[in-house]
Order: sequence, then C-alpha cells, then structure tokens
Amino acid sequence: MIKTAILTISDRGARGEREDKSGDAIKSGLKDIDAIVTTYDVIPDERELIVEKLRQLSMDCDLILTTGGTGVSPRDVTPEATKEVIEKELPGFAEVMRMESYKVTPFAIGSRAIAGIRDKTLIINLPGSPKAVSECLGFIIKVIPHTVKLIKGNVTDCADDIKKSEK
Ligand code: MTE
Repeated sequence: MIKTAILTISDRGARGEREDKSGDAIKSGLKDIDAIVTTYDVIPDERELIVEKLRQLSMDCDLILTTGGTGVSPRDVTPEATKEVIEKELPGFAEVMRMESYKVTPFAIGSRAIAGIRDKTLIINLPGSPKAVSECLGFIIKVIPHTVKLIKGNVTDCADDIKKSEK
C-alpha cells in the first residue's frame, strides 16, 4: 500500500470559498493503484506554509500529491516550495505531464509543476483544476508504484514491473 498525502494548495479553498474538487479528482485517479490516502489538507498559497507541510508529510508518507499553485499568477509558489524540500528532482514526471497535456490544451505550457524526492517520499505537483488533475494523473499513474518501490530501495530488477505495466 502506498501511503499517500493529498495537499490542495489554494487560497480560496483554504478560506472555504471553493469546494475542493481537485482533491477529489486525485482520490479518483488513485483508484488504479494500490494506494491509501492517509492525509488530506487544504492550505493557502503561502510558500513557508507549503514548505513546512511538505517537510512534515514526507516524514510519514510514500507519496505526496499536491494540486494547485503551479501557474504564473503572482500567488503561485508551489514549485518553488517543492524545490526547497526535495533532494533530487525527477524531471520526467513533469515533462510527460506537460507534453501530453499540451495535446489536450496548449495552456498546459503555463504549468510549472515539478516532481522530486525527499528522503523516501515521492512528491509530485499537479495543476489546480480538477480536469487538469485527472488528465495529468492519468498520464503518470502507471509509473508511480514502481517509482515509489525504487525510492524505498525495494526493487532489484525493473523488468518485472515493466512487463506488468505493459499488460
Ligand atoms: N494540464 C492539463 N492536462 N489540462 C488543463 O486543463 N490547465 C492549464 C495547466 N495545465 C491544464 C493543464 C492551466 S489553464 C494552468 S493556468 C496551469 O495548468 C496551472 O494551473 P495552476 O496554477 O492551477 O496549478
């Protein structure tokens, strides 16, 4: 079971002015893998708060999926906060999300989402809209279990997982 934290980053969501449909979209997207959501939070677009939360969550989770704050608006700071806490960046996740999303909407260029590893935790930024969350998660979901296993040092041979993912 992949212990997963969902972190919605939204000023309006944190003030209770907007229902968090993106968090729900993450929950739905996770149905395809063996994951359990252990924590769910909605916090405002405040860099220090995001950093603190990511540090705290990474102590007890295999996977942290953030949604929101990846764009170019003045308050969008999720990638900067994520960069501050990760030890290794995993560019492939964001590259694939942007490349595939661009086929859906050219506006996908506007997401600065990143992914990386802090200690034994995989952290992935997803864009803010529920539609974008479903699409982006769909592009990468198959690779998440294998990546989490690798991060935890539980894989000696990738071939088995590759075969399974091709089925
Ligand atoms: N990616 C996909 N797959 N689908 C989308 O609809 N929307 C884009 C982009 N990525 C979108 C997407 C838009 S409109 C924005 S502004 C950016 O994500 C950043 O969103 P965020 O600031 O809410 O994180």
